[in-house]
Amino acid sequence: MKNVLVIGSTGQIGSELTMKIRNMIPEGNVVAGYIKGAEPKGILLESGPAAEADVCNGEQLLEVVKKYKIDTIYNLAALLSAVAEKKPQLAWHIQIDGLMNILEIARENGCAVFTPSSIGSFGPETPHKDTPQDTIQRPRSMYGCTKVATELLSDYYFHKYGVDTRSVRFPGLISNVTLPGGGTTDYAVEIYYSAVKGEEFVCPIAAGTFMDMMYMPDALKAAVDIMNADPSRLVHRNSFNIASMSFDPEILLHKIQEHIPGFKMRYEVDPVRQAIADSWPDKMDDSCARAEWDWKPSFDLESMTVDMIDALRKKLL
Ligand code: SER
Repeated sequence: MKNVLVIGSTGQIGSELTMKIRNMIPEGNVVAGYIKGAEPKGILLESGPAAEADVCNGEQLLEVVKKYKIDTIYNLAALLSAVAEKKPQLAWHIQIDGLMNILEIARENGCAVFTPSSIGSFGPETPHKDTPQDTIQRPRSMYGCTKVATELLSDYYFHKYGVDTRSVRFPGLISNVTLPGGGTTDYAVEIYYSAVKGEEFVCPIAAGTFMDMMYMPDALKAAVDIMNADPSRLVHRNSFNIASMSFDPEILLHKIQEHIPGFKMRYEVDPVRQAIADSWPDKMDDSCARAEWDWKPSFDLESMTVDMIDALRKKLL
């Protein structure tokens, strides 16, 4: 990994991943890829090259890959689960037609490709407790359909053409730099913003709904470590379960209240998000990632909560 293109560099993951990789390989070109209307700003713009890189525009992607001699592509372009339910055709276009553009360019130019999958790739028939690495995946959301197709296409390009595709199934990601946009797990980010601002939080997910969650520093570490892993040890590729914590809104509320007493929450359940959440695992088994590339998270709910509150106090107050 030396010359890297991060597609979706201004999104929730991309804004932090681009900076992490730039710090890791200062001698390389780490290109912040963006689409019109979501241009990089501030440190992201100043600390390295940026280029318009719309997954739906193959010619534009190819130009960037050639110009910067890209060897690794992080493909983070996606509509999250709740938005994808409103715009299913657009979600398919971005997530699958866009992925095909990337995989073809990778095949012709020898690039490795990381395209994240998700807890959203599972469905109601999936075992919800200790969800195995290899198990039934019959999602009912468009987001989930695109993630299963992403896993299959990525493995297809590896087996058929030898394209070095690798990936992880991200849990809901909790971060304090860039907000997620329209996911089912967004509540677990927004709750911290409300708590720090001293506002009551209105929770769209019902009490008792458990989902895998992860703090962004662990997610970034996973995205880097999987691409740097020794390929001879990889039995799986697209895509690895990774896990660090699982909670429901009540557990999260009580944890935040330990640090911000008096914080209040009430429920206004969103039926679209709730149906999606009910179909997702409660807690994934990540033993294959641990065995094949030494995956190990650093943050649990307590340490994440301390760090989130501290970071958001500095940012918001
Ligand atoms: N965080 C995503 C969502 O909620 C799942 O990968 O859509």
